[in-house]
Amino acid sequence: MSWLGRFRDRRSRANLQKLARASGDPFRDSPYFEAAELDMERKWDDLIWPIIRGVDFSSTIDLAAGHGRNSSMLRPLAIQLTIVDINEECIDACRRRFGDDSGVAFVLNDGTSLEGIRDDSASFVYCFDAMVHFAPEVVAAYLFETARVLKAGGHAFFHHSNRPLPPGADFTDALHWRHDMSLRRFSSLAADAGLEVVHSAPIDWSHEDHVWPHLDGLTLLRRP
Ligand SMILES: C[S@@+](CC[C@H](N)C(=O)[O-])C[C@H]1O[C@@H](n2cnc3c(N)ncnc32)[C@H](O)[C@@H]1O
Repeated sequence: MSWLGRFRDRRSRANLQKLARASGDPFRDSPYFEAAELDMERKWDDLIWPIIRGVDFSSTIDLAAGHGRNSSMLRPLAIQLTIVDINEECIDACRRRFGDDSGVAFVLNDGTSLEGIRDDSASFVYCFDAMVHFAPEVVAAYLFETARVLKAGGHAFFHHSNRPLPPGADFTDALHWRHDMSLRRFSSLAADAGLEVVHSAPIDWSHEDHVWPHLDGLTLLRRP
């Protein structure tokens, strides 16, 4: 049975959506968004662009876009940009930011799927500073959805946790709310979804004085 098949019945689906709400609800209204805005260009130049330059941005999805700080970097590169988030408040903020731009579409999702986005339609799926908080089950669901919506040869860039948690641990008690994940597990989940790993490496946060310098990973995937 495919991984998503396990979540086809109503109760499993509801459990998955409950896990999704656990990472979504804290960001309905958060001081994070204003503060994070100040740091975008530096993160883009130092961490993101060196990995994603050269991909086909023509039809890009910004998953878990928040108030659109990454979307504003992606927009000039894309012909069509689709902004996805679990929270209506975030989609509203993005509409205020990009609303009169006919090349930008908005999807309020259920926190687990890319429903409403056609199969084989995206050249690039992007997610920064959000999946680090997602439960592994939700990560797996999005990897299957990414494989579904990507065109052959399309890429996906994910910033995810690289810190395994003990079974049953609450991610909101963990360092920087990082959920249970590792680079190796992420690559294995991607392979299960039929995606190839192009690049996979920890971020070195040691200069930012983190206790756990390899807390996060960046992975670039490709749909064969
Ligand atoms: C820390 S914010 C980051 C927002 C944006 N990526 C950025 O870098 O500014 C996390 C975002 O993930 C969204 N989110 C949380 N869980 C989600 C889920 N399961 N599916 C989609 N979006 C989710 C939240 O609504 C919020 O906008």
